[in-house]
Amino acid sequence: MKELISAEQLDAGIRKMAEQITRTVGDRPLTVIGVLTGSVVLLADLIRQLKMPLRVGFVQASSYQGQVERGQLELDTAILPDVVDREILLVDDIFDTGHTLDEVQKMIQSMKPRLIHTAVLLYKLGRQEVDIRPDYSAFEIPDEFVVGYGLDYRDQYRNLPFVAVLEEADLARDDPVEPGNAQA
Ligand code: IMP
Ligand code: MG
Repeated sequence: MKELISAEQLDAGIRKMAEQITRTVGDRPLTVIGVLTGSVVLLADLIRQLKMPLRVGFVQASSYQGQVERGQLELDTAILPDVVDREILLVDDIFDTGHTLDEVQKMIQSMKPRLIHTAVLLYKLGRQEVDIRPDYSAFEIPDEFVVGYGLDYRDQYRNLPFVAVLEEADLARDDPVEPGNAQA
């Protein structure tokens, strides 16, 4: 495994993103919604850099890893707070194809919030399949599979304090994925 973004770089990047968000939102109240599970580390660090009054909520995104080409995305809104007429900041770990953020944003949009901002830690270059772009992204990365700081490979490595590229040897170690639901 090869370190791509160090803990110090993550810290600086998230501070910068928090400043950009603050410049836009000012001291208006914000509802910060994390897409589980990958956003939790970013969300925990990001909200501590934000000074406006804010509430925190989550939505669970899972993709079905079966025979189908791209996993069917399932959204569980059971623990989503009230978003009607609220200013929302939607937070996810990575913008890859963009389908996850696109679908979560559409789902929340249908619930009549006042405004939605979107923030991701990582923007993977050359992968986008949707029209939207995140409003804020802390780092652009090449098209490689990364783990750490919330991002997983088969639900492992989320606890790494840095972002690393997973190498062939790390991938080869494991058994094939069983069909089933994987938390995003
Ligand atoms: P998207 O829907 O293709 O934008 O992918 C979003 C989700 O895919 C993220 O929330 C992650 O759970 C997962 N994902 C995409 N790329 C990576 C990666 O490089 N490492 C770990 N997870 C990833
Ligand atoms: Mg994931």
